[in-house]
Amino acid sequence: MLVSAKEMLTKAKAGKYAVGQFNINNLEWTKAILQTAEELKSPVILGVSEGAGKYMCGYTTVVGMVNGMIKELGITVPVALHLDHGSYEGAKKCIEAGFSSVMFDGSHYPIEENIEKTKELVGICNELGLSLEAEVGAIGGEEDGVIGAGECADPEECKMIADLGVTMLAAGIGNIHGKYPENWAGLSFDTLDAIQQLTGDMPLVLHGGTGIPADMIKKAISLGVSKINVNTECQLAFAAATREYIEAGKDLQGKGFDPRKILAPGVEAIKATVKEKMELFGSVGKA
Ligand code: 13P
Repeated sequence: MLVSAKEMLTKAKAGKYAVGQFNINNLEWTKAILQTAEELKSPVILGVSEGAGKYMCGYTTVVGMVNGMIKELGITVPVALHLDHGSYEGAKKCIEAGFSSVMFDGSHYPIEENIEKTKELVGICNELGLSLEAEVGAIGGEEDGVIGAGECADPEECKMIADLGVTMLAAGIGNIHGKYPENWAGLSFDTLDAIQQLTGDMPLVLHGGTGIPADMIKKAISLGVSKINVNTECQLAFAAATREYIEAGKDLQGKGFDPRKILAPGVEAIKATVKEKMELFGSVGKA
């Protein structure tokens, strides 16, 4: 059964570790992440962007697939199915479809509008027992080949959003999605510290987990980060393993063209990436 992310993140914040959110794209991704979480006895959050939701034939398809896998694979660790960077409409659709957690990303709205929309979703999620992630300070990343810098959120604005009763808060601290550029300035720990001072027990979320050095991850966790999102790193690992298989001509040998064989090395690469992250984040054995 899917669970809200509230309990797992409250425990993570208190225990000074972080739960990974791994984004899913298809059946192979989902299965690899769930099996790794179960093997390592780690709680896990499956992230679904609006684009990935569309790709997987809509949110109800995703809910059906994930619930089916939890049952068929005998998954016993806590699993939250979470909308990543949702619009207001997207969040409502996911709630209707049976997601156990949603993110409403109102960071591009003026703060008043972000507060207004977040507040309404807090009411809905509380009533249904779902977790809600809000965002302050846009997280940069690559768009049309240009890498935008990550903003640093205003700690006072973070407090305003946290006080609305959201479950977890994503705040920009110089992090970006995708690969970090050579000249990246690193995470702003002063900003993170100021946010945690004002928001207290609120679990903080670090987006753009791909490529952040291990020491920075550990420091971020020590300053209140209890959820870390990883997407690109699994994609890169999957692509590299698939490339190796094809370049070695394995698809041309025997039944090597069978899609289950072609996709197998990529699946193993995702599992290895997820394992490495769960160990780094400290969530192993915490289910
Ligand atoms: P990366 O793709 O950089 O790992 O970021 C993932 C993320 O933050 C999803 O919201």
